[in-house]
Amino acid sequence: MRVLAIETSCDDTCVAVLKTNGDKFSRFKILSNIISSQVEVHKKWGGVYPALAKREHQKNLTPVLFQALKKAGMLKKSKTVHKIKFCLWSKTLKEILSREENLYKKLKKFLKKYQQPNVDVIAVTAGPGLEPCLWVGVNFAKALSYFWKLPIVPVNHIEAHIIANWILPVGESQIFPAICLVVSGGHTQLILMKKFGQYKILGETRDDAAGECFDKVARILGLGYPGGPIVAKMATKFKIRNLKFEIHLPRPMIYQKNYDFSFSGLKTTVLYDFKNRSQKIRKSKQYIQQMCAEVQQAVIDVLIHKTLKAARNYKIKTIILGGGVAANAELRKQFKEKVKKEIPDSKCYIPDSKLCTDNAAMVGAAVYFHWPKDKISQQKTIAKANLRL
Ligand code: KG4
Ligand code: ZN
Repeated sequence: MRVLAIETSCDDTCVAVLKTNGDKFSRFKILSNIISSQVEVHKKWGGVYPALAKREHQKNLTPVLFQALKKAGMLKKSKTVHKIKFCLWSKTLKEILSREENLYKKLKKFLKKYQQPNVDVIAVTAGPGLEPCLWVGVNFAKALSYFWKLPIVPVNHIEAHIIANWILPVGESQIFPAICLVVSGGHTQLILMKKFGQYKILGETRDDAAGECFDKVARILGLGYPGGPIVAKMATKFKIRNLKFEIHLPRPMIYQKNYDFSFSGLKTTVLYDFKNRSQKIRKSKQYIQQMCAEVQQAVIDVLIHKTLKAARNYKIKTIILGGGVAANAELRKQFKEKVKKEIPDSKCYIPDSKLCTDNAAMVGAAVYFHWPKDKISQQKTIAKANLRL
């Protein structure tokens, strides 16, 4: 089975092509996984600006599709008969993309020029995410589904972050029950996974997500966007604690009985500390590096403590990580060490860093666990900003 996957839930425009022999536990072959990042566009705003992100998705989706099919070896010039088909169907296509005029213009040229690729199904992120962004991806998938007569499988973005772990084979029998920690720019959730498709959210953030905390701290410190990778980089440069700075950050909600998180207080503490420093200290490398290391460690401490507590309470076999923050090298290292030391009978899975941040390969992989029961016609596919697992 071959899947064409589309992901536009936030500020990355992603298209991937995956192939498998039908056995979901065999290795998925990623034929292409193209990501067009909008970082440069959003940098000056210090965060993602939804209307701008939507516009960029409209601009980028067709070129990204082109690259994904080309890399997968599926791009072939069309014959005349195909152009006739386009003339007949262009009215409906225009209706499907009525809110994405720019996208329609680019897709029209593409569909006239190239043949239908050898794929069996289209996967698209339906939520959660930024509603205007999700709709661009969903309408794009609908247009392709209509023109190529292919079924669509809508995919939950959080589930896709979890399923990213199966892109490299991990088997099934020894995995469940599992605790999944999904940590991204929009979400921080602890999920009990009994089997594929069976999820129970044990806890989640009450305010900012962990990635959002990194992004906001980076903005306060004047480090740019997205904050996570920059804070991580600064933290690696930190060597010796400078007692002159005396930075004390809280570990929010760490000893509370529930599995919820809260990271907005952490960001506020950083803001006040920063404001109360002299101009000279604020700008010093030592202060910035020490603050980044402290913030990173505070987030890691809370995430590990709560996840291991859930792992013990639910007597799980596996801890599964996913989401952009799971790309953090220190978090990955400390998670693996702690699991080995404190619950040695459990395993800890984390996707390759490139598959932690948003990508379409994880969206395509999720389809194998829903096929064929969740396939739906293109008219019924909708985007839902607050979609739950
Ligand atoms: O999953 P993702 O790509 O998009 C969402 O679904 O939100 O996650 C993006 C988040 C951003 O907040 C980014 O700052 C954070 O993941 N992130 C990191 C790292 N790489 C990305 N946070 C900490 N360390 C990193 N290395
Ligand atoms: Zn994500």
